[in-house]
Amino acid sequence: MIISPSLLSADFGILKEELSELSLAGADWLHLDIMDGHFVPNITFGPDQVKNIGKYTSLPLDVHLMIEKPSAYIEKFAQSNPHIIVVHHESKDDIHQCLEMIRALGIKAGITIKPDTKTEVLQQYLDKTDMILMMSVQPGFGGQSFMDGSVERIQRVREMIGSRNIHLQVDGGINDKTAKLAVQAGADVLVAGSYIFKGDKAKNIQTLRSAAL
Ligand code: DX5
Ligand code: ZN
Repeated sequence: MIISPSLLSADFGILKEELSELSLAGADWLHLDIMDGHFVPNITFGPDQVKNIGKYTSLPLDVHLMIEKPSAYIEKFAQSNPHIIVVHHESKDDIHQCLEMIRALGIKAGITIKPDTKTEVLQQYLDKTDMILMMSVQPGFGGQSFMDGSVERIQRVREMIGSRNIHLQVDGGINDKTAKLAVQAGADVLVAGSYIFKGDKAKNIQTLRSAAL
């Protein structure tokens, strides 16, 4: 089980401490939510900030691009040497080309869909992706509740993946209860923001791991 805490819930005033706490707490990856105020109604940070974050952590960077034109930024994000870059099927771009571009840069490529997008659209990307991210909330904000219907959607995608070497990540509303549901349905990578950052990070990550067992 891979746990990828979302930095969206961190206190950016003490970011360096937050980053070292996450490593000590046993995080596997670091989830970075990139929002442009167009694709989602919220704005976060860009490639320069990701590069700085990378200086203060050795956790593999898991970059979730919630932006309208990912192709224009992939090379810039690649400069931080992330482990994986994930693009949205719904972005106004050639998504096949984005996935190819990411892989050509020697980075793992992920594809994601919003909760109201049909899971069947993922079929076309199966040969071009290393991870499918299933959004279990509407992208844009932390602290929302895991949406009804997410479990069935995760199950369907797990079946679609079959024996392929593709991770199945779930993002949004993950806590000790929903982590269990997501993993039972077939997830092997969990993103969690508000749950991990509320209180003791090590204890919260451990609780998520035990719930997932
Ligand atoms: C939402 C982001 C998530 C968010 C999750 O658009 O993609 O990564 O940080 O936050 P929680 O875990 O609080 O739902
Ligand atoms: Zn995310």
